[in-house]
Amino acid sequence: MTTFNPQSILSSRTAAVEEAIIIRMSQKAREMKAQGHDVISLTIGEPDFDTPQHIRDAAYQAMNDGYTHYAPIPGMPELRKALAKKLKKENQLDYDWSEIVVSNGAKQSITNAIFATVDEGDEVILLAPFWVAYEGVIRMAGGKPIIIFAGLEDNFKPPASRLKAAMTAKTKLVILNSPNNPTGAMFNTDELAEFAAVICDHPRAMVISDEIYEYINFDEEHVSIASLPGMQSRTITVNGFSKGFAMTGWRLGYAAAPGPIVKAMSKVQGTFTAGANAFVQMAAVTALEGPRDDVEHMRQTYLARRNLVVDGLNAIDGIQAPKPAGTFYVFADVSKLFGKTLSNHKIDNVDDLCNWLLEVHHVATVPGSAFGDAKSLRISFATSTENLTEAIKRIAWAVNP
Ligand SMILES: Cc1ncc(COP(=O)(O)O)c(C=O)c1O
Repeated sequence: MTTFNPQSILSSRTAAVEEAIIIRMSQKAREMKAQGHDVISLTIGEPDFDTPQHIRDAAYQAMNDGYTHYAPIPGMPELRKALAKKLKKENQLDYDWSEIVVSNGAKQSITNAIFATVDEGDEVILLAPFWVAYEGVIRMAGGKPIIIFAGLEDNFKPPASRLKAAMTAKTKLVILNSPNNPTGAMFNTDELAEFAAVICDHPRAMVISDEIYEYINFDEEHVSIASLPGMQSRTITVNGFSKGFAMTGWRLGYAAAPGPIVKAMSKVQGTFTAGANAFVQMAAVTALEGPRDDVEHMRQTYLARRNLVVDGLNAIDGIQAPKPAGTFYVFADVSKLFGKTLSNHKIDNVDDLCNWLLEVHHVATVPGSAFGDAKSLRISFATSTENLTEAIKRIAWAVNP
C-alpha cells in the first residue's frame, strides 16, 4: 500500500488564497480570552447589536406560515420586488425585480459576480486599502488582481487618473466599496463621475459597487455609482442586510445588474449553492418595509463612538486617526511609531505593533497589511463605549508610557 498525503491533492485554486490576517488576529484574541486574559477585541467586523425585534418576529411568522422550503435560486419574488422598490426610492436606480439576485450574504453576491464575468487571466482592479476577501475570490476565479493604492495623503481615494493608468484591454471589473472597509472613506458624486468617465471609455469593463455599509454613514449622502448617467448598464450593485440591519448571521445579500449578468450570476449560484433561506428572505421584506428606528439608533451610536475613538487616538503622540465618513472602522496611521523602542520592545512594523498590543496590552486590532496598507491599523468601534474607552487608555499607555 502506498502512503497517501491528503495535502498532495489540494487544488492550486485553494493554494492561491491565504488565510486572512484578520481571522488570525480574531482567533488569537479569542484564544487569549479563553486562557483568562482580559482581552478587548477591536477586530470584529460586525454590529454588536442584536437584530431588531420586529425582524426576528417576521422570521418566526414566516416559518409558521410555511416558508421552510427551497426558495427560487435568484430569490423570493416578494423580496426581489421589495428590493427593486428600495433601490428606486433610496438609490435612484431603476431595476426591474428580475434584474436582482438574492444570495447568502453580499460576499456570495460578489463571488457570483466575479465568477459570472472573470475568465482566466482577466484583470480586476482593486482600490487599496480594500476588504481582503475580494482578492481571494478573484484568484480562485483565475483572475488577476491589479491593485491601485491611495493612502492617507489622498484621503484613501485614488484620483481617476490612477484608475485610468491601471486599466488595460484585459480589465473586466473595477471593484468600488463606498463606504469603505477598512478606511470608512466615501466617494461623492463628483468623484464617482470621474471614475465613471474612465470606465465608460473602456469597451468592456464593469464596476462591482459594494455598498454594504450604506446605512452606516455620518457626514455625507451615500451615492450609488449606477445612478450616474450611463452607469447602470456598467454596474453590478451589491448590498446586503448584515451591517445596516445587524443581520450578519442571517446571511442575506443581493446584487442588481443588467439581465445577462443577473442570469449568469444566478447560474453560478445554482451551481454552487441554491436560493437563500426562504424565511430569512421574508423577514428581510419586513426589514426593508418596516420601521427604521433601530437602524437610525445604531447609526447614531456608531457616530458617538466614532468621535470618541478618533479624538482618543489623535490625542496619542505618534498616531494619526482620520475621521471615517462611514462604517464602524477607524484606520489609523501608526507609521511614526515604527523603529521606536516602547517598553523595551522595538516596533519594526505594523504587524509587530499589533501583535505587541495584543500579547502585552491585551488589545486586539487588525494590521493594515491585511488590507494592503502597512502604515495603519484598523480599529472596529462595533463594541461598547466602556470597551473603547479602556482600549484607548491601554493603547495610550502602551505607546506613551
Ligand atoms: C466591504 C464588505 N463587503 C461585504 C461584506 C460581507 O457582507 P455579508 O455579511 O453580507 O456577506 C463585508 C463584511 O465584512 C465587507 O466588509
